[in-house]
Amino acid sequence: GTVRPCFRAASSLYMVSDQKLKGYFFLTPPLYFIPDLLPPGVCSLLNPAAIYANNEISLGDVEIYGFDYDYTLAQYSNLLHSMIFNTARDILIEQFKYPEGLRKYEYIPGFAIRGLHYDVHKSLLMKIDAFHYVQLGTAYQGLKPVPDEEVIEMYGGTQHIPLYQMSDFYGKGPSIKQFMDIFSLPEMTLLSSVTDYFMTHNIEYDQVHLYKDISDAIKDVHVKGMMYKWIEKDMEKYILHGDETYAVLNRLVNHNKKLFLITNSPFSFVDKGMKHMVGKNWRDLFDMVIVQADKPNFFTDRRKPFRKMDEKGSLHWDKISKLEKGKIYKQGNLFDFLRLTGWRGSKVLYFGDHLYSDLADLMLRHGWRTGAIVPELETEIRIINTEQYMHSLTWQQALTGLLERIRFQGFLFSWLNSKLFPSRSLSKNLFNPQFGSIFRTFHNPTYFSRRLIRFSDIYMASISCLLNYDVNFTFYPRRTPLQHEAPLWMDQLCTGCMKTPFLEEMVHIR
Ligand SMILES: *[C@@H]1O[C@H](CO)[C@@H](O)[C@H](O)[C@H]1NC(C)=O
Ligand SMILES: [Mg+2]
Repeated sequence: GTVRPCFRAASSLYMVSDQKLKGYFFLTPPLYFIPDLLPPGVCSLLNPAAIYANNEISLGDVEIYGFDYDYTLAQYSNLLHSMIFNTARDILIEQFKYPEGLRKYEYIPGFAIRGLHYDVHKSLLMKIDAFHYVQLGTAYQGLKPVPDEEVIEMYGGTQHIPLYQMSDFYGKGPSIKQFMDIFSLPEMTLLSSVTDYFMTHNIEYDQVHLYKDISDAIKDVHVKGMMYKWIEKDMEKYILHGDETYAVLNRLVNHNKKLFLITNSPFSFVDKGMKHMVGKNWRDLFDMVIVQADKPNFFTDRRKPFRKMDEKGSLHWDKISKLEKGKIYKQGNLFDFLRLTGWRGSKVLYFGDHLYSDLADLMLRHGWRTGAIVPELETEIRIINTEQYMHSLTWQQALTGLLERIRFQGFLFSWLNSKLFPSRSLSKNLFNPQFGSIFRTFHNPTYFSRRLIRFSDIYMASISCLLNYDVNFTFYPRRTPLQHEAPLWMDQLCTGCMKTPFLEEMVHIR
């Protein structure tokens, strides 16, 4: 394409800044050029269907592909969230005798985001960054934001949350919980709605009990099988992109890859869903099917043996000395799985949507390669691709750059500083008005992002992204400079961008 004048403005700006760093000349140009700073084509650059790499991995070396089921092979529509919300709300009212007035609360789509932390004793839902700081402006009690000063006061004069004392590795600690699965969106919204009701009606309540009741009501929806029934009754409505799941599995098998499934869901439910997506012979594609596996304990606990299960769901007592293709197994543990299959190390790639239950132990203890399914990537990338977001980000970068260089705390400093916060808030609100992006606090990665990078080799919006890559494709993470390394402007501007897959380049593979 043609080079628009704004690109020349941008490159000359960088040259000016490089040469004249010691003077004040650089103070003016960026403010002039902000609207024109975007290189051509920078918007819509990122592909929501791309796979992003944290670690180098060559698919050619992967012989065995493993999958979780819910939200990995089966993507569910958001309709499920309001069903879960309404049903759990009614359980609270009818079985736990919560006030009838709660019935006026409906599910609020887009209220919460995944990865938030909840301080049980303070009834505080908040977003925490990679350094364990609350992102100010993202702490909510009930449905209302808590002013920054109050949050700081609650934690003894700091925004730092002592997660190591208050939470545990899987985010299930005594006083602070982390909401990590996609089913937890209705849970957080219900928690906030009930808290809102109690606060606005001045009802005194025990915060710990409230948390437990709500989490029990939500669990009932799963465990008592209500959710399974809705999905089974109307697959078309609840299960999305089944044909793409079929295409992914079929393609892998055609390239002589072995497939297995490890899910916490019961066989009858998985079987119906897979028949819907893949067809009645879906089990021919899989070498191993393990249901009700009780992850993450499956990965850490050696004691639970595999049990063989027949089509009707009856369990057999024979000792399992080999895992056979075409059979269904229940429970078990990874140690036996590795011993019986010999599928060890980096020839195995396992996909799951839950960073802790699916991926953490595999990465930290067992050395399989891991792929994280993060459906939020799709919407977040679409937002990052908008001109509005790009402008806001460029403006923030320019402001931050200037603030860094101004050594005196004068008028200009306060003026620039006063522009920074509104701009950061604007970008945050583009993602979600309450909590912003799941990946970033204003400038830092979120706690969720840090864990995502730690526990996954690659991450993507859905497994269908695999269809965009050759079966022997090698993923290389983009080289991003560490803080002490040279910024390498041109490298970042050009090669950095070029290495993210473009929509056009990928079209022909599929
Ligand atoms: C992938 O690599 C293997 C081994 O090098 C080769 O046999 C196979 O044909 C390749 N597959 C494709 C689709 O390129
Ligand atoms: Mg799952």
